Parts: sequence; structure tokens; C-alpha cells
Amino acid sequence: MKPIVSITNVFPEAGLEVLRPHCELRLNDSGLPPNHEKLKLMAEVSNAMITYLSDKIDANVIDVGKNLKVISNYAAGFNNVDYNHAAGKKIWVTNTPGVLHETTADLTWAMMLASARCIVPADRFTREGKFCGWEAKLFLGHDIYGKTLGIIGCGEIGQAVARRALGFGMRVLYYQRTPLDKSIERSLNLKYVSFKELIKQSDFITLHLPLNDDSRYLFGHNEFRSMKTTAVFINAARGKIVDDAALLEAVKNKEIASAALDVYENEPEIVEGLLSEENILILPHIGSASYETRDRMAVLVANNVLDALDGKKPRSAVN
Ligand code: DGY
Repeated sequence: MKPIVSITNVFPEAGLEVLRPHCELRLNDSGLPPNHEKLKLMAEVSNAMITYLSDKIDANVIDVGKNLKVISNYAAGFNNVDYNHAAGKKIWVTNTPGVLHETTADLTWAMMLASARCIVPADRFTREGKFCGWEAKLFLGHDIYGKTLGIIGCGEIGQAVARRALGFGMRVLYYQRTPLDKSIERSLNLKYVSFKELIKQSDFITLHLPLNDDSRYLFGHNEFRSMKTTAVFINAARGKIVDDAALLEAVKNKEIASAALDVYENEPEIVEGLLSEENILILPHIGSASYETRDRMAVLVANNVLDALDGKKPRSAVN
């Protein structure tokens, strides 16, 4: 009998191909996310689960997974899984490091450029037939070249963002609990500063840290008030790092210039008023959404499952 692998939502063929010869696949391809009860039913009958970052895999789900060997999360972040509880039950939890950082860094830069140069409102204006000729003050934005970029969380995504900044001649500050090796700092032209200094000095602030007890609601009213009034704030990490209502207020009150969000505090719900704020770019959590990267992630997710089912430590275990 082949082991049962439940997949909670739509999943790339590249990953299914890896699994098919070895496993019985139970794929929820309805396009609808499973609710908590459905997740429990899946856990109950499965030897492995492939989960989305939006699936809340808490102790109740884990406890019914009597034959569960691995929860393979289809994301780099794994704050949706109670990985400590899973470890207690000898269930591996895995994520997808090393395959999505360049793609997420590309999106971060797209967000920075779009926010700084009003790309989305300018596109809308042109489509609406409002362009009547060149004007000296039409859609004035901010330069990126030569400005100061502040990166909070300088792991593989943060470093990929910093690498791109070299081409833009930026001064790059970063903050995280533990400074990087001096050799990495030198090669990426990075300067380690305190959190307070970073938010005070940066023209662009971008988040690339995981969501955990230290980072939950790291950004609220006080932090936005400490930034430059010309600052552009980017969040392509996790929604709950930021108080979105405080961010909206900061942009509305011109405490900062603009923001770009790919993730939300209560995803997929969006804080009231955010959708009508022209100076906040809003995207539907597409940081890693390129054809190539989603396939690479799926293959890694599948290999993590096979590792665990073979009795080995999965290649990207987090617990
Ligand atoms: C991740 O992998 O954590 C990303 O947020 C998915 O786009």
C-alpha cells in the first residue's frame, strides 16, 4: 500500500510528478481552502500533508494525525504550523528555503520602484484618457538611485534585495538580531545599525524577517512617526509584523510618503480604508509567484515528503 499524501490546495504538476510513483495523492483541487474540520480529516488519514501558508495547522490538527510523518509547507515562512507541537509528536515540519529568495527580491524591487514613481496611479490615469500632454508636475515621484535603503531581516531574501541595490548606487543599512559576517557585509556594501537608527535614516524600508513573537506588530504608530516624511515602506514578509491601521493613518497624515504591501495583518481581509488610499500599492501575496519558482518550491516540497516517508530527516526540516 502506498503512503497517503494529502495536499490541501492546488499544487503544481512539477511536484505531483515527483510524488505520483511513490504515493497515493489526495488533492483538494476545488480551489477552496479547507476549513479547520477538513484539515483535521486530512491529517487523520494521511502519512504526509502538503499545506499552504494560509492553512492553520495547530495542535488540534496535529493531534489527530496519528500516522502523520511530515507537514510539508509550500512556503518559506512556517508561522502557520505549530512546529514545536509537531516536534513533540515526532512529526517533521518543512519549508522551502533557497528557492524563492531571488523571485521575492524581484517583487520587492518592483514594489519599491512602483511606489517611488507612482506607476500604478499613472497607468490608471493614462488608461482613463486623462493624459493631455507633458506637464512639469505630472506624477512626480522620488528617486531611488543614491538613496538609503533599510532592510529589516537580512537572510537570503534581504541579501538578494541588497544585491540589487548595488546597481542603484544605494547606501544600504540593515538590522536583525545577529549581525552578518563581515565578509557578507563588505560584499553587499551593508551597514549594520540599530532598529531605531534604521527607521530614522532610511528613505526606503523593506521587511524580510519571519513572523514570530519578536516581530509581531513590530511596526505601529510610534515606528511610522519616527520615519522620514518622505519614507517609502514595503512589506512583502508577513502581515502581522505591521499594524495596518497605523500604517494607513501614517500615509493619510503624510507621516510617511507611501507604502506597498504584498501581505496583510488578517489576510485575505484588508483593513478598511486601505483599498481607497492611492499612496499604498496593494498586491495579493505574490512574492514568490513566478512560474519557475513555484515549480522549484513544489519539487522541494515533494522531496521533503519523500525524505520523511523514507525515514530520513527531510532536507529542509525546521523542527
Ligand atoms: C513564503 O514562501 O513564505 C511566501 O510568502 C510565499 O509567497
